[in-house]
Amino acid sequence: MALQSVDLAPLIGSELKVTKADLLSGALTGAIRDLLVRRGVVIARDVHFTDEEQRAFARSLGDLRLGTVKQEGEEGLMKVTFDEKVNPEYAKFFFGSQLWHMDGTYEEVPPFATILTPRVLSQTGGETHFANNYAAYEALPDEEKARLDGLKVVHTMQAALFPAKRDCTVEEFALWASYPNREHPLVWHHKSGRKSLVLSTSASHVVGMHPADSAYLLQGLMAHATQDRFVYRHQWRMGDLLIWDNTGTMHRVLPFPPESGRQLHRFTLNGEEPVRGLAA
Ligand code: OGA
Ligand code: MN
Repeated sequence: MALQSVDLAPLIGSELKVTKADLLSGALTGAIRDLLVRRGVVIARDVHFTDEEQRAFARSLGDLRLGTVKQEGEEGLMKVTFDEKVNPEYAKFFFGSQLWHMDGTYEEVPPFATILTPRVLSQTGGETHFANNYAAYEALPDEEKARLDGLKVVHTMQAALFPAKRDCTVEEFALWASYPNREHPLVWHHKSGRKSLVLSTSASHVVGMHPADSAYLLQGLMAHATQDRFVYRHQWRMGDLLIWDNTGTMHRVLPFPPESGRQLHRFTLNGEEPVRGLAA
């Protein structure tokens, strides 16, 4: 079966022209993975997956992250919501998703991909934006590419979360700071031979650089990488399926009223390669 798709923006995002049965058949797995790493984001409309179907589809694409299974039927399921009653363990971190980020930059091997479906949508806000970190790298002048290659960046939870909640409590700040930091090359040399920026609000500082120069570099790269030409904006409809390549894109959600109860169901695929830089 040939995979039919249309581009959603010139440098990022493709919509699959498929049915739920096509997705669950397994026949398109290789083609969807290829499209995903080429286009950063892949969506399909009117799919209306159940949790079981979404999990089975995720498993067909890669190595499902299981996490700790709390309830029967919820294996691998993460409920993305700001409501701590719905997700007592993680809801308190999701406000940070309003700033441009990659998931799991604290891990040696960041997650490969995420598979998302909406369950409750907000009437206002709540669009999710994606930026292509491959395209942003490729668009840099050669001298800049050469300068960035070999730099290392420290990613921290407080760098990711404090700018999204400057009125946090001392206890919240201490909790974020208690998580381990992680150093990654700024430029990821993927197994495929392609390169992308490992850029995210979690990027605290460039190793060995004066803090002011480091902030200038990282903030400038963020402004570069999130220009309209590298971005796809997803307006959610019930029934959507969305997959992003977390190794080559950033994402953020636009603010929405917490009382909307906005909730997405997420399954995550484990990473398949550590972030490797120039000399590794
Ligand atoms: C996430 C995330 C964005 C959204 O699940 O990691 O950042 O639109 N979600 O809720
Ligand atoms: Mn996220």
